[in-house]
Amino acid sequence: VAVVEDDAYHDLRLEGEALPPVCALAENPWAIYTGTLSKTVAPGIRVGYVWAQPELIARLAQLKQVTDLHTGSLTQRIAYEYCTRGYLQPGIQRLRDAYRARRDVLLAELSANLTGSLHWTHPQGGMFLWGTLPEGRDASEFLARAMAAGVVFVPGASFYPGGAEAVPGASRTLRLNFVSAPEPKIREGVALLARVLREWS
Ligand SMILES: Cc1ncc(COP(=O)(O)O)c(C=O)c1O
Repeated sequence: VAVVEDDAYHDLRLEGEALPPVCALAENPWAIYTGTLSKTVAPGIRVGYVWAQPELIARLAQLKQVTDLHTGSLTQRIAYEYCTRGYLQPGIQRLRDAYRARRDVLLAELSANLTGSLHWTHPQGGMFLWGTLPEGRDASEFLARAMAAGVVFVPGASFYPGGAEAVPGASRTLRLNFVSAPEPKIREGVALLARVLREWS
């Protein structure tokens, strides 16, 4: 069975022990590990990387060629220079510090304003936390109300590959981003979410 691991957020570990990729644990000749510089260097750079057995890499290279010929060589060269000149690790460290601070602001604001009306995770990495509304609430309806108030999130139902309908409680879930907005905007966003939930009878 092939394992394809899409590990875009691997380097954005904000706390706790760094975990190895699943592909590093699986003794599987079909394992394919992918990553991207979109989350660590710049979203627009569109340069990623893949690890797999050489025979698989040769086939993947052919597939890439018939799909889009190749990733632009200018951005590949920029990525190469960025990494080999030693900018990558300090850049990742700066992002980790900034994202950890924003995550902590979001967690603190949620605790202060939404305790009892939303459950949420405490993510040790990445860019998002996962929230769950109480029984009887629907995240899509919450989104419509939140958008009218001026704040957005992604309803969790989009993240169930087999469809959310079959999963109990999936329609109550949502994803909150804690990296894209500066801290005052995070505070404002949570205050708006709290107001919407209060007024949603
Ligand atoms: C899990 C995951 N994989 C891959 C990507 C995209 O990477 P790229 O910009 O290199 O296509 C994203 C970006 O949103 C992502 O969330």
